[in-house]
Amino acid sequence: MRREMLVMMIICEFMIGFSKAQLRVGFYNNVCPNAESIVGGFKSAFGHQGVQGFDVIENAKAKLESVCPGVVSCADIVAMAARDAVAIDDGFGQSHGPAYEVETGRKDGLVSNVELADRLPDWSNGKWLLYRLISAAHTIGTTACFFMTQRLYNFKEGGGFDPSINPSFLPELTSTCPKGGDVNLRLPMDRGSGETFDNQILQNIRSGLAVLQSDAQLMDDPTTKGIVNSYFETGASFEADFVNSIVKMGRIGTKDSSNGNIRRVCSSFN
Ligand code: HEM
Repeated sequence: MRREMLVMMIICEFMIGFSKAQLRVGFYNNVCPNAESIVGGFKSAFGHQGVQGFDVIENAKAKLESVCPGVVSCADIVAMAARDAVAIDDGFGQSHGPAYEVETGRKDGLVSNVELADRLPDWSNGKWLLYRLISAAHTIGTTACFFMTQRLYNFKEGGGFDPSINPSFLPELTSTCPKGGDVNLRLPMDRGSGETFDNQILQNIRSGLAVLQSDAQLMDDPTTKGIVNSYFETGASFEADFVNSIVKMGRIGTKDSSNGNIRRVCSSFN
């Protein structure tokens, strides 16, 4: 499992659904005392290329079901695994990201809707800003050339590239993702630092070295631009803000027993 995939999964998990569970750190301490360490036991799989993210979650779930059946939700396993993937700093991986405590107590959803997963909820109430900024989570991970095609070759009517790309970076991007080439090839989203959790992504964004268009666009909006710049001009801490944001995002749309349950396996309903 790629550790980056875990962080991606946490987003999807949180963006579907609209009710609220009572979350707290240490929710499983009494009911399944080893829940956190069992999820962490699967760290070795984070860096295992070729194994898909869902396998890691399913394996952790299977182990948890064998020791505490019907107790630990898949949504919480994803949240715990994402935390561990960000902070990993051992023989299995070196993200060196901030350690943070995850609140747990979410139930799993009873509805699976690909359209909802595709849509960012609550655009109007300020959460959109949170999603946009936390996309600096692209400090680790890769993107497929698929997501670069429009930016590199079809940005304007009649073709052409996104002029916000630094001219010195353009040849690098076009040689990795040539026109008509394999759209499944992948490149780091954080040029020069794709394996490490740090603020290089923000420096890259400021310098026209963003890989994804959605990251480059943070400089188009005065609010997001001001926040990006603040990490270099006022000493604001990206790590601290990331932790604050991901914890907040983890409270959005959680399920309780009125509209959720504990799945037996994470990939299907009970
Ligand atoms: C405006 C919101 C966002 C957009 C448009 C966006 C877009 C993307 C795209 C296009 C990719 C490449 C996917 C692929 O090639 O398979 C990606 C990957 C990724 N995103 Fe985002 N993202 C957003 C928000 C976030 C947030 C909020 C997080 C984490 C909290 C995040 C974490 C990641 C990670 C870790 C990957 C790498 C996955 C991998 O290496 O397999 N993204 N994102």
